[in-house]
Amino acid sequence: MRSGRFAAGVVGVLLCAGSFLSNGVSAHAQAPAPPGQALAFDRAKGNCLTCHDIKGGDSPGNVGPPLGDMKARFPDRSELAAIVFDETKRNPESVMPPFGRNLIMTRDEIEAVVDFLYTR
Ligand code: HEC
Repeated sequence: MRSGRFAAGVVGVLLCAGSFLSNGVSAHAQAPAPPGQALAFDRAKGNCLTCHDIKGGDSPGNVGPPLGDMKARFPDRSELAAIVFDETKRNPESVMPPFGRNLIMTRDEIEAVVDFLYTR
């Protein structure tokens, strides 16, 4: 009886450690976060979370719409990249920084962010 409960406790701790790792908190995570996620969440780069709720990000703002279902909503990849490159082309009044035009991110970095958005 007692050893059974002990074993259950050990399994619980192991499961806990497992989910800790798979959350990407550890450098040894099994599924590493895509490079675009780091760019999108980096306050000095994409800083997308300041204005957008993106699954997996902390303390999002709501200046812009939540970014989810991206593949379904933006099947045309180049359209999505164009929004990140320079949203003022679609909406001259937009407060969203033109990441490409203002050289905040390179085209490769924007493509990586689009890869990441397609996972959300
Ligand atoms: C300063 C606030 C701000 C930041 C930072 C910001 N956005 Fe936006 N974004 C907006 C607003 C506001 C809109 C709404 C459309 C408009 O203003 O033209 C928008 C719209 C969008 C859209 C279109 C969404 C839709 O459903 O139509 C995408 C995609 C998007 N942003 C991606 C990003 C990504 C990726 C980043 C980070 C690299 C980012 N945004 C950073 C404010 C921001």
